[in-house]
Parts: sequence; C-alpha cells; structure tokens
Amino acid sequence: MSDQLLAWFKEHPDEFISGEEISRRLDISRTAVWKQINRLRSKGYEFEAVPKLGYRLVQMPTRLDEVSLLAKLKTSKLGHQLRIIARTESTQNEAAAWAQQGAEDGAVIIAEEQTMGRGRHGKSWHSPAGKGIWMSLILRPQIPLQFTPHLTLLAAVALCRAMKRVTEIELGIKWPNDILHDNKKVCGILTESSAEDERLVHVIAGFGISVNLDAHDYPDELKAIATSLKIASGKEIDRASLIAECLFQLEQLYKLYVEQGFAPIRALWEAQSITIGRSVTVGTPNGPVSGVAQGLDETGALILLGEDGCYRKIFSGDIHFTG
Ligand code: BTN
Repeated sequence: MSDQLLAWFKEHPDEFISGEEISRRLDISRTAVWKQINRLRSKGYEFEAVPKLGYRLVQMPTRLDEVSLLAKLKTSKLGHQLRIIARTESTQNEAAAWAQQGAEDGAVIIAEEQTMGRGRHGKSWHSPAGKGIWMSLILRPQIPLQFTPHLTLLAAVALCRAMKRVTEIELGIKWPNDILHDNKKVCGILTESSAEDERLVHVIAGFGISVNLDAHDYPDELKAIATSLKIASGKEIDRASLIAECLFQLEQLYKLYVEQGFAPIRALWEAQSITIGRSVTVGTPNGPVSGVAQGLDETGALILLGEDGCYRKIFSGDIHFTG
C-alpha cells in the first residue's frame, strides 16, 4: 500500500495530492491515508501537508549504501571492509563482536540509527535515524597499550580536518577529542581497547558526527550544548562524502604517526585546539584541578599551569572552560 502511494508521489514531483483523492484511488479511509503518510515519514520521507491541498513529497530519505560509499573511498585500506546497518544499540558493540570474529584492521561499521549510543564517561550519545554519522572503526595497531591515547587525539585532528574541508565552517578541538563549533559540540570520539597480557589486540574508535540534525531533533537537555554541521553551515551535508573524507584523513594521519611518531600529530592537534591558552578546570579523583592549558605532553596528557606557578598533567576527564 505505502509502495503504491510512494510511486504515485514520485510520479508527481512537486505536486500536492489531496487526502480525498488518495483515499478514493487506494480505496482506503482518510484515517488510513494519514497512517500511510506517517509510516513513510517514519522511514525518512518528508511531506508537506496543507489543508485543502493535501500532501506533497518534499524530501526522500538519504540512506547510506555500501556500493556508493565504497565508490567514494580514497583510502587504500580504511573502510574497504564495510558494513552499513539500519539500526543497532551501538556500533561499538557491533564492532567489538565483529573484531572477535576476525574483522580486518581498518574495517568500518556504520548505523543509520543507534538506540543506545554511548559517549565517554558513561554518557549516552543521541543518534537519531538518518541524520548523523554513527560509525566505529576497528584498528589493530602495532603499538604499545599505553600509546592508545595518541590514536584518540589523532582521530580528533583527522575528523576536524575532514569536517572543515567538507563544510568550510570554523571548528576546534576541546581536549581531548570533542569537536566544537561556536562552543557547541558537533562531534565526539570514543575509543575502546581490548588487550591481552598487556598487549593491545584491537582498538574500536567510535565517531559520532551530528551532521544533518535540525534544532527540533535535539532533546531539550542538549539544545544549549550541541549543534550539527547543517545548523552551523546552513546546508544539508552529503554524509557519504564526509565519511569518505574522514577515513581519508584518518589514514593519512595514521601513516604519519607510524612513520614519525606522535610529535607531528601533537603539533597538528595543538594548532586545531581551542583549549590551549584557556583557563580550565577538570574534576579528578583528588578534587578539581584548575589552570591555564599549555599544551600536550608526549603521552597526550594536557599540561596545565596553575595559579601557584606549578605545572600539572591531566590524563583523563572532561574539562570545563573557566575563562
Ligand atoms: C563522546 O563525545 O562522549 C563520544 C561519543 C561517541 C559516539 C559514537 S557514535 C558511534 C559509536 N557508537 C557509540 O555507541 N558511540 C560511538
């Protein structure tokens, strides 16, 4: 039934079709027409409804598909093993299961929607259908376990570069890996590692990019602190092109890291940071620590200069800007 209705709307682009006509042609009640329209809406089709005129199809859902995404990839490895799924609790869980089953280094899983998306420090991650990039990358790096924070910082630089290139908007990194536009978060990164006998087996790098969310897509508690690339740039962004650019930048920086170590990544991170030079506070198990952010050390820790003239290093936590 909804297939028939959809075909009809597609044959009449830009035209209003009245509820009465649909009801007559499909031999269904007006309530059934309304239900069919809502069913299509839940699949991502957007309709304009005008009293007395009827319904007009204004936008088709933009689904990601493996064939077109693979065709856009510019990488030699990342994303070549690719899975795109409609709905899952979290791509991190899907990726962990896939890694156990032998997924290759560089394998990528993307979901159109996550029902229990995870953020850092036990927070949830808002991941509505068809609006963002909810993606996990499986890496099997040959690096010591204690170097995994380098990968998180590297990913922040890569994603920031990719988003700037595709959208041309101002973005900056808040330590360690939140990407902000105008003080509102557009992208978060969650890295989860698996180790055996102190040896790194795999890393699952999860990327959440709020791409085409509109203001009404955010729950009230996020409205003041989160934004999307669409809201910031004023235009709809092609998710497949952005994914391809993210994977390209990740691969480029990963090569640089393997060849030259953390030093160039650290410099690139500092150059894109909105953290350096700012007064920050961070909660630690021993209470809050404050100071002016100076830069990163060789492990990726944030160096703060306190009012007492002492330098302190922050290894994890959420920082708050205080000046
Ligand atoms: C954060 O800033 O707190 C990290 C957010 C990470 C969200 C991504 S979305 C894809 C992947 N799957 C998840 O459940 N989380 C990460």
